[in-house]
This record gives sequence, structure tokens and C-alpha cells, in this order.
Amino acid sequence: MIRILIVILLTGTAGIEGQTEIIEGSDKLHLRNSIESEPRQDAGLSEAAYKKVYSYTKNTNAFKDFSYEQMKARILNTSSWVPPAELQKSFPYYHAGYDYEKRPVWVAEIGKFDFRDIVAKGDKSIVEAKRYLFQAVLNGIFSIAAMDTEEQEIKDTFVIFDMEGASIKQLNFLPSWVQFAELFGKYWDLVFQLLGRLVIINANYVTKLATDIARPVVGQLMERVEVYGVNRNVWLPRLLKHMPIEAIPSWYGGKKNFKPISIHG
Ligand SMILES: *[C@@H]1O[C@H](CO)[C@@H](O)[C@H](O)[C@H]1NC(C)=O
Repeated sequence: MIRILIVILLTGTAGIEGQTEIIEGSDKLHLRNSIESEPRQDAGLSEAAYKKVYSYTKNTNAFKDFSYEQMKARILNTSSWVPPAELQKSFPYYHAGYDYEKRPVWVAEIGKFDFRDIVAKGDKSIVEAKRYLFQAVLNGIFSIAAMDTEEQEIKDTFVIFDMEGASIKQLNFLPSWVQFAELFGKYWDLVFQLLGRLVIINANYVTKLATDIARPVVGQLMERVEVYGVNRNVWLPRLLKHMPIEAIPSWYGGKKNFKPISIHG
């Protein structure tokens, strides 16, 4: 799988080598300064939260051999971990609201993430980033669990990736793709259960290329992915089909008084 990826990467980027495109990022989540961040939700996880996580992990290759008690220890370890400040600052993400199916809507400004830097720094940095990612997955599951009722079980999430700022510098770094392929190969069955829909907005040519490179790796998952460019008039109506305006950040066309349910990182 990695070999295929490398070939695609090399052929795919050949034509645009040397070009760099840096789009100046607007301050979206970086209005963090003006929104009070919620305290971390790690203290005192409920049994329901642990059970919810286990209901997914027991069906995965990576975790199928974990007993419930072992999984609980793992969950507690990861969710109570305070990531290094640098990671938190560089990789923020937030729970914006709920869609009409009561699925949590999560937003990450992926275009601003510096994956290259993380990977280039080597093993320690990569291990920490993976732990950070697993913590994000747990936060996602906790947000699903919080919406479960006797009548209705919520099973997955609605994720928005904002690619504004994505540059070729992130794309043409092979070690990042190797990490991505390994990570996805190991945990795809977990992602598959959790990702109900992924809407990618502000996709420039770099993102479109990245999507093409990822396509053979993520396979069937692409059916749940929608990719839109920078034109809000195209993607905002799509979002509004799935969720009330309250779940949409003001900087994407939501109301002025939008406030995320929680901010992480
Ligand atoms: C928690 O996880 C870290 C990183 O995987 C590990 O080094 C540590 O020993 C674990 N702590 C416990 C109490 O299991």
C-alpha cells in the first residue's frame, strides 16, 4: 500500500515541484483569545463513556485483544494526559455543535496544521502526535456518548476539515505520507466506524492533490467525503442541509454569537 502511495506521490507532485502557495490564514479558531476554553473533560469519566469507547474498539484489529478493563486503563491514560503546550497550540480542534441526526460536529483547521514539522522532528514527536490524535478520537467518542439516549444511539460524527492555508510544503514530504499510510492501515476500522461524514472546505489545488493521493489508501471511506473549494456559496448550503445554523461557526456563515461546545488542544 505504501509503495503505491509513493508512486502516486512522486508522479502527482512532479508537475508542481518548486511552486509554493501560502494562503494567508485568517484568524478563525484563533479567536481562542476571546472564547473561554472549557476545562479538560478528563476528570471522572463515566462508565457510559468507557463502554461507548469499548463498543467501537472491540471491533477493531488494533484493540480487539484488549479486555474491557485493559481498555479502560488505556482510555484513562490517554484522556488524562496533558499534551505538550506546543502540540496544543499547533493542533487545535473544536466541537462546534450537532447535526440533524444528533451527531456531534467537529471542526479542525487542518490547513494550518504543520504535519511536516511533527514528522521531521522524529520518533518522540511522532509518538506524542499519535497520542494526541488518539486523545482527539476519544474526545470525539465522548461527545457521541453524551448524545445517546434510551431511544436513540448515536454512532458517528460529522467532521469538517478547513484546508485554508494548506501548502505544498506539507504535501511533498514523503515521511508524512508513510506515517499516514501506516496509521490509517492500523486504525482504518476505527475511523470507519466513527466518521459518518467528512466535509472538506476551502480546498485549494494542494488539497485536491492530497485527496487524490489519499484516495487509494482510504478506499471506501471516500464515499463519505465531500470536497469543496473556497466558495462559501457552494458549501454553506450543503452544511445547512445537514445541521442547524447554530452548529456553524460565525466565520463560516453562522451566527455572530456562535460559541463552540468545547475547544481542545
Ligand atoms: C500511559 O501511556 C504512556 C505512553 O504510551 C506510557 O508511557 C505510560 O507508561 C502509561 N501509563 C500507565 C499508568 O499505564
